[in-house]
Amino acid sequence: MARQKITVVGAGNVGATAAQRIVEKQLADVVLVDIVEGFAKGKALDMMQSAATEGFDTKIIGSETYEETNDSDVIIVTAGIARKPGMSRDDLLATNAKIVTSVVEQTVERSPNAVYVIVSNPLDAMTFLAWKKSGLPAERVVGMAGVLDSSRYACFIAEEAKCSIKDVRAMVLGGHGDSMVPVPEYSTVNGIPIEQLLSKETIEKINERTKHGGAEIVKYLKTGSAYYAPSASAVAMAEAILLDSNRLVPACAYVNGEYGLNDVYCGVPVILNKNGVEKIIEIELRDESNDALHKSANDVRELCDKILTAV
Ligand code: LAC
Repeated sequence: MARQKITVVGAGNVGATAAQRIVEKQLADVVLVDIVEGFAKGKALDMMQSAATEGFDTKIIGSETYEETNDSDVIIVTAGIARKPGMSRDDLLATNAKIVTSVVEQTVERSPNAVYVIVSNPLDAMTFLAWKKSGLPAERVVGMAGVLDSSRYACFIAEEAKCSIKDVRAMVLGGHGDSMVPVPEYSTVNGIPIEQLLSKETIEKINERTKHGGAEIVKYLKTGSAYYAPSASAVAMAEAILLDSNRLVPACAYVNGEYGLNDVYCGVPVILNKNGVEKIIEIELRDESNDALHKSANDVRELCDKILTAV
């Protein structure tokens, strides 16, 4: 069987790091696309020249255009501008809406069977937009952030519980914005609810830190936003799709009826496989988590309404 193919659009920090992770894992061949002349080509060539030392046979090429992307299995969209200190993800809306629209229009016919993993911000609205513009069934367009936000939550849980990160399972639902919903009742250390290991105050503190996890990094970096954890999360999702592994992860999916939410993209637990979102898993949430999920979905809905007038 020929190796599978992932297109990564955007050769900035998130895109380039995602591409690097994919080729180093030998998960798939990569086409890295960026409209800035030479940018993707240069990075791809540089990565290829690390193959002898790193020992991977996967191939990566860079391009300013989309010809090489034909028949991709997964398309990871990272294109767009990133936040500067003081900016919210929502401030990126109009600019990134135009970029994501153009990316989808140029890729969808070339790769009619691909699953899209959207990473551009504001994430849930961009995923909704990509779905609208693609004309694809909703299960084939999924957004990344639940894996990222849960990974941040897991990091803080491990730190506070003084335990190995390997034993932590953390869950964050809702939109990828300030109203995201860390869910302590489904976060555990090897099955032990974190509420039995950490005080209420500590959980409150790490919930808040998780919600502002992206902004904390923007504040340090000053000229851009996080990319190691975001790229790792996008690649984990691409891997679940390519390997058809039925992973159960929180991801930004089209919700229509589940959780009492309608016609909106929002972070919920899903089964991810070669079809994209195979299934949304409905779990019982405590009232406060359920209320927070609805509030977060409403915030996303407001952005989605705005976005359709922005493009
Ligand atoms: C973050 C950005 C990428 O959360 O949304 O770091």
